[in-house]
Amino acid sequence: MSHAPEPTSSPVGAPLAQAAAGDVLGGSGAMFDGIAKRYDLLNRVMTFGIDQRWRRRAIALLALPANARVLDLATGTADLAIMTAQLHPDAHVTALDPSRGMLAVGAQKVAAAGLQTRVSLVVGDAQALPFPDASFDGVTMSYGIRNVPNRLVALREMTRVVRPGGRIVILEATEPEPGLLTWGARLHIRVVVPRLGAWLSGAPAEYRYLQKSISEFPSPAAFAELMRQAGQDVVAVVPLLLGVSHLWVARVPQRLDRAK
Ligand SMILES: C[S@@+](CC[C@H](N)C(=O)[O-])C[C@H]1O[C@@H](n2cnc3c(N)ncnc32)[C@H](O)[C@@H]1O
Repeated sequence: MSHAPEPTSSPVGAPLAQAAAGDVLGGSGAMFDGIAKRYDLLNRVMTFGIDQRWRRRAIALLALPANARVLDLATGTADLAIMTAQLHPDAHVTALDPSRGMLAVGAQKVAAAGLQTRVSLVVGDAQALPFPDASFDGVTMSYGIRNVPNRLVALREMTRVVRPGGRIVILEATEPEPGLLTWGARLHIRVVVPRLGAWLSGAPAEYRYLQKSISEFPSPAAFAELMRQAGQDVVAVVPLLLGVSHLWVARVPQRLDRAK
């Protein structure tokens, strides 16, 4: 049976229980500390619960082998990591995030699900992964990549830590294409989400950022191109619900020039 790679003992990349306060470098995890406690509730309310269905689809698209080692980046409160462990009872999931507050909520959920031995929470930044080359069978990242300052660097790190032939699946919110049918979806993202989020969380700046970061995210085709630049073979780009989110599925080539 394969085991999850041990993170290095550097401050960033330390298991949650060992990491000291204030040791997170880079990323924008601090912003999420403020909304961690209400994050799950807000997600369910603002997406009408569809977000969990999309996470399940992301896991199916990973096409995991038996005894898989999986890395969930920007894991937040660990929804995707927990779901992966539940759907694949022989898998080990390493769940990484720079926000201690989000991980603390995730740790409670992992314990409540009885998954402490199969889901490891790690404090870290997707731009500098504390894992050896080719140490995972698959990587997931849901609603995380738009928060990462240097997306190309993070994508290259994903390519590096996945074994050749393994998959990378990214789920992210996107702006729906203009059109009559998508008018409602745009209104939801631009007006309803920031206001409802501000009201329910008491953190208006965070929810204004959410809307802004979605508007500024590259088009689905441009993001797929960035994945190719990072050395990945893009297998599919899947629009979800009028394009309010997308799934990108990529494979790490068999013959990867790791010297690049
Ligand atoms: C919107 S939440 C998504 C959480 C979870 N994946 C989900 O689907 O609900 C975004 C997460 O990205 C994390 N994040 C921000 N910068 C990051 C970075 N540089 N590397 C990894 N994660 C980062 C935040 O701390 C936050 O938990």
